[in-house]
This record gives sequence, structure tokens and C-alpha cells, in this order.
Amino acid sequence: MVNPNTNIFLLENALDNLLEGFQIISPEWKYLYVNKSVIKQSKCNSKEDLIGFTMMEKFPGIENTKLFKVLSRCMLKGNSKYFENKFDFPDGTQGWFELRIEPIPQGLFILSIDITERKQAEKEIEIKSADLLKANAELDRFVYSVAHDLRSPLTSILGLLSFIEQDDNEFEKIKHLNLIKSRIEKMDEFIKNVLSYSKNNRIEVKVQNISIRKEIDDKLNIYKNLLESNMIDIQLEIDQSVPFYCDHTRFSMIIENLISNAIKYHDPKKSNRYIKIKGNADINVVNLIFEDNGIGIPYKHQDKIFKMFYRVSNQIPGSGLGLFIVKETLEKLGGKIWVDSIPKIKTSFNCEIRNYLS
Ligand SMILES: Nc1ncnc2c1ncn2[C@@H]1O[C@H](COP(=O)(O)OP(=O)(O)OP(=O)(O)O)[C@@H](O)[C@H]1O
Ligand SMILES: [Mg+2]
Repeated sequence: MVNPNTNIFLLENALDNLLEGFQIISPEWKYLYVNKSVIKQSKCNSKEDLIGFTMMEKFPGIENTKLFKVLSRCMLKGNSKYFENKFDFPDGTQGWFELRIEPIPQGLFILSIDITERKQAEKEIEIKSADLLKANAELDRFVYSVAHDLRSPLTSILGLLSFIEQDDNEFEKIKHLNLIKSRIEKMDEFIKNVLSYSKNNRIEVKVQNISIRKEIDDKLNIYKNLLESNMIDIQLEIDQSVPFYCDHTRFSMIIENLISNAIKYHDPKKSNRYIKIKGNADINVVNLIFEDNGIGIPYKHQDKIFKMFYRVSNQIPGSGLGLFIVKETLEKLGGKIWVDSIPKIKTSFNCEIRNYLS
């Protein structure tokens, strides 16, 4: 005959080797039996940490949880129950468990499986699906707007070409050819914007040492004629005492867009037109401010101007992509941008850019 102690030993050994937690709770909510998996799932060190104690002693506040309500109902009515439960541990962490509760003469028998990892994976999939839906909707809008924005200058070029075909007057021909040139430049500008958007998404960040002042000077040089013809005064205050490491192409694209906007949206009615560019760098971050006393941005548009294709008005030509790409690029560089503007008075764009030195 087999020694009953041997049987108990074998049974305990088998239960301890189960992946599932196995516990018996008395009607007074005391732990009567727990296997090794329960120790692990409850974040305890040994069986002695639980056995003989009540659930309330080990997990204060458990009596106010949904889980406890279910357990009480099972205990009282002798019901079985199978459900998934989120458990808040005293150390502030959380875990997800699949629980099967069965009433037994000694109280309740609970079988538990830790499904925290599965739940986390499900959550990640949920977030990714939402991102994917957003990206799809963005792509739809993008394709529509790109096609539209490329077609309108083409249509006007075709119209101008038919004028030229019919026109004998040399002067008129040159006028129309110049108009065609400006439409093509507009298209080229737009395609450049679309390309920088796509590059920002595709190409890895490549950092190098950058002189903020030199970058800004170079850009201001490109716009020298425009600045002079519009009589816009430039004020530069750059304080860079530490090296600044950043992706050169992206950094240069950001400042070019902000300078071009500050020029484009100047106020021709003001006599003292200016653009003030301030910059300072520490080992962690570079702050840049582009301030202009141009036409300003009406308050109701201020939180929308960073959206794809968003434009306040069509009076001045543009595609409404510049600030969207600047914002996306800054996010890629670990930075951010925000705007302060008083309509008709002034506008300042504030950028915070990560210094890759640290
Ligand atoms: N400095 C500024 N002052 C006033 N309004 C501005 C300024 N910068 C941007 N805006 C407003 O924000 C809108 C969006 O700017 P954004 O640079 O994205 O597009 P855009 O200049 O219209 O076209 P582009 O794609 O050619 O840059 C502009 O249409 C303009 O109304
Ligand atoms: Mg712009």
C-alpha cells in the first residue's frame, strides 16, 4: 500500500509545477493553500507569506474591489465564475489575470493565469491600429491635396500656352512666358515641400556639429533681395557657447521655413518692419525664437496652422505644408514648436530642439 504522505507529497509537487496559480480561500478569507505560481503572481516570497493570513491583511483595500464583490457572491451563493481581472498591487503596479472560481466545501478554489503580457500586447495592437487608421486618413487627404495642388498650376500653364499660340504680339508672349515660369516655380516649391516631408519620414537622423549663427546667416543670404525689397530689418541675438549637434538637413529646413514665413507674412502697411531671431544653446537643448511684426495670426487659427495643408487665407500663395513639415521634423528630432501671435501686431514661433551633444 502507498503511504498517504507520499501521495500528498506527489500532489503538492504536481501543483507547484503548474503554470496556473492554485489557491484555496476559507469563508473567513484566509489563504488555506497556495501553490508556487500564486506566490509569483502575488509578488510574495514564500507560501508562509500568505498561508494563515486573510486577503485583507495581505492586500489592504481589496474588500472595496470589483474582484472581492465577485468572490463574495461566489462564496455566499456557491456560484462558479470565469472572468478576466485587472489587479492593483500594493507597490502601485498592475497585473491582468484570468480567473476561474469554484466553490468547494472549504471555501473557494481559485485558478489564476497571469495574462499581463497578452493584455499589454493587445493594448499595443489597439494603439497601432488607431495610428494606422490615422495614417490612412492622412494619406488619403495627402494624395487628394497633392493631386489638386499640382493640377491647378498645370491647368493655368495650359491656358497660358494656348494664349501664346494665338498671340502675335511679342510683348504679350513674354508676359505669358513669365507667368508660366512663375507657375512652374510654384509647382517646384510645392514638390520640394512634399519631398522634404517624405524624406523626414524615411531618412534616419544623422547628427553633426552645427553653428547656429552660420546656418541662420546662410538662410538670410538666400532671402537677401526679398528682405531688402520689402525693407525688413533683421535683428539677430544668438548665444551659443556650447557645441550644437543636430541633423543638418532637417535643422536647415526648419529655419528656412520659419524665415520664409516671417518674410512672406510681413505687414506692408507697417513702416518699421522687422524679424528678430533669438537663439541660445545649452548641452541639452537649443531654443530658437523667430519673431516678426507682420500681419499676425487670428486667434481662432493659431492651433490649426501646424496641420497638413492648413492656410489662414489664400491671399498670399503657399501650400500650407511648411509648418506641418516643421512640426513633424522637430518631433523626429526630439523637439517641439509653438506659436504666440497677436493678430495684426506680431508673431513669434518658439522652437525647442534637442542638442544631440548630450
Ligand atoms: N509668421 C507668420 N505670420 C503670420 N501668419 C503666418 C506666419 N507663419 C505662418 N502663418 C500662417 O500659417 C499658415 C500655414 O503656414 P505654412 O508655412 O504651413 O504654409 P504656407 O506658408 O501657407 O505654405 P508653404 O507650404 O509654402 O510654407 C500660413 O498660410 C499663414 O496663414
Ligand atoms: Mg510657409
